[in-house]
Amino acid sequence: MGWNSWNRFGPFISERLVLETADAMIKSGMRDAGYRYVVIDDAWHESVRDDDGDLTENRWAFPHGLRWLADRIHERGLLFGLYTDAGTRTCQGYPASLGNEMRDAKKFADWGVDFMKVDWCHTEGLRGRTTYPKWSEAINASGRPMVLSISEWARDKPWEWAGSVGHMWRTTSDIADTWASVMAIADSQADLHPFAGPDRWNDPDMLEVGNGGMTDDEYRSHFSLWAMLAAPLMAGNDLRAMSGATRAILTAPEVIAVEQDPLGRQGRRVQTRGSSEIWARELRDGAHAVLLLNRGDAPVTVRVIWEDLGTSGSRNASVRDLWERADLGDHDGWYLRSLAPHACAMLKVAFR
Ligand code: GLA
Repeated sequence: MGWNSWNRFGPFISERLVLETADAMIKSGMRDAGYRYVVIDDAWHESVRDDDGDLTENRWAFPHGLRWLADRIHERGLLFGLYTDAGTRTCQGYPASLGNEMRDAKKFADWGVDFMKVDWCHTEGLRGRTTYPKWSEAINASGRPMVLSISEWARDKPWEWAGSVGHMWRTTSDIADTWASVMAIADSQADLHPFAGPDRWNDPDMLEVGNGGMTDDEYRSHFSLWAMLAAPLMAGNDLRAMSGATRAILTAPEVIAVEQDPLGRQGRRVQTRGSSEIWARELRDGAHAVLLLNRGDAPVTVRVIWEDLGTSGSRNASVRDLWERADLGDHDGWYLRSLAPHACAMLKVAFR
């Protein structure tokens, strides 16, 4: 869990933005909710390597340098993430790491980086499954533990090979701040649940919650889906200027508890009926998280039948609403809920 500069700020990043974001992460309660990584994405760079051949930060944007910035982030009880690219140039045209994997991982380690995002622009002729293992070797050789975030956009089916290489791998091309984008990503993730588990996560891309292109109901559905998918939760909005609704979505404690459930089992889509869907995720305590989702433009009533959750025997279950943080009582065999357009309900269902 963390924050990444890209979705909201693109290449317009600076030391000041990063520090203010780190402070906002604390003040808003996000750090307490579990967010830790402050990640600088593309365009932190100087346009050429330095005389030693190292990547170097743009001193206009980062006047005290990245080592200093990492120290300030660590002082705040947070962790520091940084971006590079596996090819010849980053997506924004800055120097990238092909042929310099060892050198750049070492430099990141010297700077105090805890999380490396390695992107996939300008990689003509390369394959993910032979390129990224060089990055795990480089990180091991650097002597500093760093999360390896593989960002190759599902080109080489990373779920087949990335589990033993990195900690998370993008399973989609880039998200956009639209309902259509979130729904398309949900569809593309539905069959990937067998590949995820503790320390090896499918990554359906960073959050758009709070960026303005969707309604709060839509953002709740977006966030709920990511929680059901056991996805990394990288906030992508301006943490310094959040609405109360955005803050409440990003810090919802019972939704995050599902998202971070230690069993680490990714949810599945168990039913599609008209414009409504049901997703289910097994939890360590034996209960199920259940998402009822209305993808359509008209209100619907959705019924979840306990048998569809793949549980045997017991018909009686207690139901809790995880967004409302309210017990809904015991239900025999099924539960029924009306949903506004693009809205969802997220439940915890515990069998007796
Ligand atoms: C690619 C990645 C994005 C972001 C940009 C930066 O598009 O998929 O997440 O890192 O590059 O240029």
